[in-house]
Amino acid sequence: MSKVIIALLAVHFSTIVVLSCLCAPSTPLQKICVADAAIKARVTGRQQVSQSIHYTINVIEVLKSNQDLSNLTTLVTSTQPGHCGLELDNNALYFLTGNIHSPRARPQDIVLTSSTCRFVLNLDKASDNEKRAVFDLFKPSLNCNQTDA
Ligand SMILES: *[C@@H]1O[C@H](CO)[C@@H](O)[C@H](O)[C@H]1NC(C)=O
Ligand SMILES: *[C@@H]1O[C@H](CO)[C@@H](O)[C@H](O)[C@H]1NC(C)=O
Repeated sequence: MSKVIIALLAVHFSTIVVLSCLCAPSTPLQKICVADAAIKARVTGRQQVSQSIHYTINVIEVLKSNQDLSNLTTLVTSTQPGHCGLELDNNALYFLTGNIHSPRARPQDIVLTSSTCRFVLNLDKASDNEKRAVFDLFKPSLNCNQTDA
């Protein structure tokens, strides 16, 4: 086994053992750039499904996506210790980022997965300056070329 694989396994097992949430430090721009999707959405429901929470979301605007999000109505976040699960306020408007998952057999069952390590902002609570800082990143268009931004 190569040293790289051993190192990756070590990281994998240590994340299982460590029960506190740890996120790699990165800027909002970096978090938006690595995400599959960045959306503006309202949270309209919450349901515990085994070890995760399924939030019902109403997508208001798609700011970034690598695929069609017209059927997206669910955000999934983990409740397992150390998985950095998100707690979202019901009826609040959010800027959300995360990854898109859609089962090949049922592409209509598309979900957004997210966590506290992703860039998430409650737009009902954020100041005008905080909101402007985020939405200005998309003007005129998102620029992920600034490697150390
Ligand atoms: C959205 O869901 C409908 C109904 O299930 C399906 O026919 C359609 O292909 C889906 N659209 C996308 C983009 O997946
Ligand atoms: C980012 O870099 C790519 C490839 O060099 C270039 O095509 C693209 O126009 C750049 N985007 C911006 C917003 O500068």
